[in-house]
Amino acid sequence: MAETDPQEILAQARRYAEDLTLFEGRHFIVPEEVVLQASGLGEKEISTSEETSASEPAEKESVVASDEGLTLDAFREEICTCTRCPLGSTRNQFVFGSGDPNAGIMFVGEAPGADEDQSGLPFVGAAGQLLTKIIEAMGLSREEVYICNILKCRPPGNRDPQPEEIAQCEPYLKRQIDLVQPRVLCTLGRFAAQTLLRSDLTMGRLRQSEHRYEGIPLVATYHPAALLRNPQWKRPTWEDIKKVRRLYDGVAL
Ligand code: URA
Repeated sequence: MAETDPQEILAQARRYAEDLTLFEGRHFIVPEEVVLQASGLGEKEISTSEETSASEPAEKESVVASDEGLTLDAFREEICTCTRCPLGSTRNQFVFGSGDPNAGIMFVGEAPGADEDQSGLPFVGAAGQLLTKIIEAMGLSREEVYICNILKCRPPGNRDPQPEEIAQCEPYLKRQIDLVQPRVLCTLGRFAAQTLLRSDLTMGRLRQSEHRYEGIPLVATYHPAALLRNPQWKRPTWEDIKKVRRLYDGVAL
C-alpha cells in the first residue's frame, strides 16, 4: 500500500498513538526520589546528570586497567580478522559492538543481519531502529549504552547461529563484558538469553525470572525484530526495559 494512501496514513497515525500510550510517552521519566535514592546508595547517578558523565569514566578506567591494560578498541583490533569459524570467510564486516566503553547498560543481541554486515555496526536495520527508540524511551541514547551481539559475523541468509559458531564467538563477548563491566545486561531474544544463561527455556519463561551472568544482573527480553512482527509483545518488553532502567539506577536490588 502506498504511503500516501489515506488508509495507510490513518493506520500509521494509530500505530504512533498506540506506541505513545504503550511507552508512557516518549521518555521514561525517572522519579526524583529514585535519583536521590540511587545517589544515596553510592551508585553512579543516572547519566542525564552532568556530574555523572564526569565521574563515570574514572570509575571504570581502573577496571579496564586491571584487565592487563586492554581497552575495548585494542581488543577489537586483536580479534577483527577472526576466522575461527566459517562465518569469517562469508562476512563483509566484523561487527564488534558500539557505544560507551564504560556503559552501565549492555544490550546483547543475536547476530548481525545484512545491514549490520554492510555497515560494521550492530542494530542499524529496522530492528535496530526500534531498539534505538526503546533506548531513547528509557531516557538514554545509543551512545550512552553498549550494544553488541553473541556472534560478531553474519550467518548467511540470517539463519540461526550454529552451536559451533556460538562456542567460538562467545569468549569474545565474555571479554567485552569483562572490559565494559556494565551494571546490568539486557539480552534481546531467545538466542542471546539461552546462550548466556545456558538454558533451553522459552523466551516467555526466561523473562519471568531474575538472572545473573557472572554476578551481573541480567534481564531477558524479546528481540526488537520479534516486536516488529508481534506488537502484542511491546507491552511486556516495556516492563522488562523499565526493570533494566531500575537496575541501572540502583533501585531494583
Ligand atoms: N539482530 C541482531 O540480533 N543483531 C543485530 O545487530 C541486528 C539484528
